[in-house]
Amino acid sequence: MANSSPDPDPYPLARDKKESDRLREQHDISIQNAGYLIFPAIVDRLPSHARIADVAAGTGVWAMDVAKSLPNAQLVAFDLSSAQFPPSAPDNVQFVVTNAKQPFPDAYHGSFDLVHIRALIAAMMSPEDWEVVMCNILQLLKPGGSVQWFEGDFGNVPCLRNNPEYMRFTALPKLLEKFRSVMGDRATTGPGNLVKAASARLENVEVDVFPTDRLPEMRARWARQAAIAMLAWAEKSSGWSAEELAQMKSGVQVDIDNGAYHRGDIYCVTGQKPHASTE
Ligand SMILES: C[S@@+](CC[C@H](N)C(=O)[O-])C[C@H]1O[C@@H](n2cnc3c(N)ncnc32)[C@H](O)[C@@H]1O
Repeated sequence: MANSSPDPDPYPLARDKKESDRLREQHDISIQNAGYLIFPAIVDRLPSHARIADVAAGTGVWAMDVAKSLPNAQLVAFDLSSAQFPPSAPDNVQFVVTNAKQPFPDAYHGSFDLVHIRALIAAMMSPEDWEVVMCNILQLLKPGGSVQWFEGDFGNVPCLRNNPEYMRFTALPKLLEKFRSVMGDRATTGPGNLVKAASARLENVEVDVFPTDRLPEMRARWARQAAIAMLAWAEKSSGWSAEELAQMKSGVQVDIDNGAYHRGDIYCVTGQKPHASTE
């Protein structure tokens, strides 16, 4: 399939091999930190031949792992762009280009037992967008179907020391500060808006919050993969000169090599489409 991305593309991160590899790493760490691919209460209510949607799927890494662990399930991975779709996929995974801020094609309405979303916050979600996307994914679900939506809270992301002797950060706190300032309100209000949209529309809402440094052995890996995304974003949008960017890249490397890392909270918001819903 020829790659298709909107022009201009509103998405601020890269869409290349390096970013696809980073998404794989972020997925592996996130799943190990969370302790589940699918929230246990949702697994209990999935039928044996479940239909599952992965919205804003990127490379479809979550969908592909679910397809392996639930071989009888049928998965559809939706994204605004096909640039990171894999060259091949198992028979039970289909990839579709769609904008989640617009209603999904009618053919998919009311057909899924589970809709999963992860890391849409980087797509510059306005406060209203959370409600819009929640309504659109509700249309995808059967009555009683489940939502599982992961987002990071970028409001409080301190730079910490995994090595008690490393006292002088050179770049990581500066990169984090720049990223937060450009994200503005979105950095602090994203998960809150998600919980609000879920509470207004879903039944049996549960919010599982876990820190990115829950597992000490994941700290450097988390910091490195997040730094790759923030540096790629900075290259496009920070306004830093080539020299400043080069200094930032090597400084962040030095910091992480010396045991600096950052931590944040990941929210996993789950719930069910009301059984009586006619949407
Ligand atoms: C940070 S990536 C996360 C990918 C995947 N969910 C994961 O966790 O590996 C965000 C993805 O959201 C997609 N995206 C952004 N805005 C979107 C929209 N309005 N509709 C559908 N996908 C969107 C981007 O194209 C990108 O692939």
